[in-house]
Amino acid sequence: MTLADKIANLKREKKAVILAHNYQRPEIQDIADYVGDSIGLSRRAMNEEEAKIIIFSAVDFMAESAAILNPDKKVLLPTLGARCPMAQMLTVDEIKRWKVHYPLVPVVLYVNTLASAKAYCDICCTSANAVEVVDSLDAETVLFGPDNNLAEHVQRKTGKTIIPIPERGFCPTHLLFQPEDVEILKVKFPEASAMVHPECSVEVHDVADFIGSTSQMCRYAKFAKAKNFIVATEQGIIHRLKKENPEKQFILAYEDAACPNMKLNTLERIYRSLKEEKYVTTVPEPIANKARSALERMFELKT
Ligand code: 13P
Ligand code: SF4
Repeated sequence: MTLADKIANLKREKKAVILAHNYQRPEIQDIADYVGDSIGLSRRAMNEEEAKIIIFSAVDFMAESAAILNPDKKVLLPTLGARCPMAQMLTVDEIKRWKVHYPLVPVVLYVNTLASAKAYCDICCTSANAVEVVDSLDAETVLFGPDNNLAEHVQRKTGKTIIPIPERGFCPTHLLFQPEDVEILKVKFPEASAMVHPECSVEVHDVADFIGSTSQMCRYAKFAKAKNFIVATEQGIIHRLKKENPEKQFILAYEDAACPNMKLNTLERIYRSLKEEKYVTTVPEPIANKARSALERMFELKT
């Protein structure tokens, strides 16, 4: 029996579902019940009625959101150390410090934050809806964290004053992309369309044909007329893009752009996680209640 077969049997036996982020390894995406971006995964987790166990093949903050939205289900992160470094960049103390200086300014937090930070914000956003979330607020100035590149993107699109908290939060994987990577490929493939994640630097945004979340990129690739695409985001997405568009070509703008945290999850670790029911993701109730309100406010916007 293959590992994939063993996982399938255990899943049936334990009434489990596997939700995987677009950056997961190809063999994980292939056995997952759902593959998506962070908002898609949260929505799917929120509407998960049948399952007793959710295996969240991604990183810590995503599993935490699933646990917050599903307090009566067991949410398992296959690898204990799968932590997003950007989410660690914004602490509660830092948010409190900024709030002292700007007591009337709303706080918008990217979902790439820990639950403890989310508990101190007014509303959450993802890379798919950050512009709409900030636009929806009756405020011309917004505290926004932790990704400085997404903050600049939102400022450009909304024209509002965005104060980044912390001042220089970033994703180490998306920082690997340089505008020259895209420009050189555009010379080589003049017909290609460049898709860029907002976590890349704004200099990379400037050479993009499309800026969006990972699932928005998948949708864009499906409906765009172009046959070749330059992709500036984590390499795991290439598997899904190729699978859904076998007739199109996808070129990663920087070949070594792998998120080491996302890649900690393996089929073997998913099998063990399911078998031993570890690592259970829990969020203390008072924090979960506040963080849930911020997530629900985002969902109410129907972006
Ligand atoms: P998406 O919501 O676009 O999938 O992004 C999540 C993430 O961690 C990007 O680095
Ligand atoms: Fe975090 Fe960047 Fe990895 Fe996304 S790609 S999980 S933001 S480190």
